[in-house]
Amino acid sequence: MASGIEAAPVYELEPYRQLSNNELASRIDGVRADLGRRLLILGHHYQQDEVIAHSDIRGDSLRLSQMAAASDECRAIVFCGVHFMAETADILANQSEKLDRRDGRRVSVVLPDMAAGCSMADMAEIDQVEAAWEELGESIDTNEITPVTYINSAAALKAFCGRHGGIVCTSSNAAAVLKWALAQTRRVLFFPDQHLGRNTARSMGIELDQMPLWDPYAEIRGGNSLAALESSRVLLWKGHCSVHQMFTTSHIQQFREKYPGIKILVHPECPLEVFEAADESGSTGKIIETVCAAPPGTKWAIGTELHLVNRLREEHPEQEIHFLSPIVCMCATMYRIDLPHLCWSLENLAAGTPVGLIEVDHDTSRWSLEALNRMLALS
Ligand code: 13P
Ligand code: SF4
Repeated sequence: MASGIEAAPVYELEPYRQLSNNELASRIDGVRADLGRRLLILGHHYQQDEVIAHSDIRGDSLRLSQMAAASDECRAIVFCGVHFMAETADILANQSEKLDRRDGRRVSVVLPDMAAGCSMADMAEIDQVEAAWEELGESIDTNEITPVTYINSAAALKAFCGRHGGIVCTSSNAAAVLKWALAQTRRVLFFPDQHLGRNTARSMGIELDQMPLWDPYAEIRGGNSLAALESSRVLLWKGHCSVHQMFTTSHIQQFREKYPGIKILVHPECPLEVFEAADESGSTGKIIETVCAAPPGTKWAIGTELHLVNRLREEHPEQEIHFLSPIVCMCATMYRIDLPHLCWSLENLAAGTPVGLIEVDHDTSRWSLEALNRMLALS
């Protein structure tokens, strides 16, 4: 079992690629049986079916963070998701209060493929956010801004929020978090997803002209006039999800024309016009709940990652479920976690030579936790 120090792997990845899915699945089951409750496998809803079948808990970003925070018995978390999720799990599972209870023993957090990142998270780098904060300070008082980072961001950004009285949000609690932030100060800087920020703020009645877009590559003031910054309530960062930005209102129109009565259900990472034209919206967890609660015969066109929509179609044959785009929109980085990587990382973990260990440094962890705990207190 992992010591928390990454040594040279006993097992190389390549041979695992030659094994059949059945062989991989039975070897994964073998490690799970050996490690028992010492191992917790978390799976995000966007994971492929073969992988999600091996997760102890599947969930959206909020549920998985809550599970990592609640993990008391396990010695290792294998996160079938993307890098920022594994970082969050490490911060929550290895906070000092939990380390004290375990006599200093860390929970090893493993990401089966280190290349499983998030293109949206990469759109806001800590240097860019620090530079924006400094530049904002030349136009408006930064003491009047609460920074809010979507959980889809690097730990360094969460730590930035922690240091500046800010908070983290997920797509399930963005409205509650924004309300909290606007009760602290008159303005919010929301990053990295402009769409989640805009959709949430619009739903709260904030006008579009009070939400200037900060472009980190613009030459001055993020591309805004001084007046726009002065009248802002929510400053949006120019980032987006490459998967959810593919859905358009013309897709919605085509479905409504072809299937009268169809319901359009989308994730709030979609652009505003799609979000507003949809019948319902919500995090991946909320999308699943909405479909589960609907009567048989309901027709849906769902705008979120392809693997989740396909799984919903399989699990709900009593309903008619369509994917809200003629183009395949799948999260290529989530898809990097496959059975060979999962089996390889589990067998190395069991052999005491863990691969893909995620360990956030102490200072970043401490400040990220401030921002995460403010969020978890609201959830
Ligand atoms: P949720 O899990 O909050 O629905 O977010 C979706 C997502 O994009 C995860 O990367
Ligand atoms: Fe990032 Fe979008 Fe993939 Fe989620 S679906 S991990 S936001 S790229």
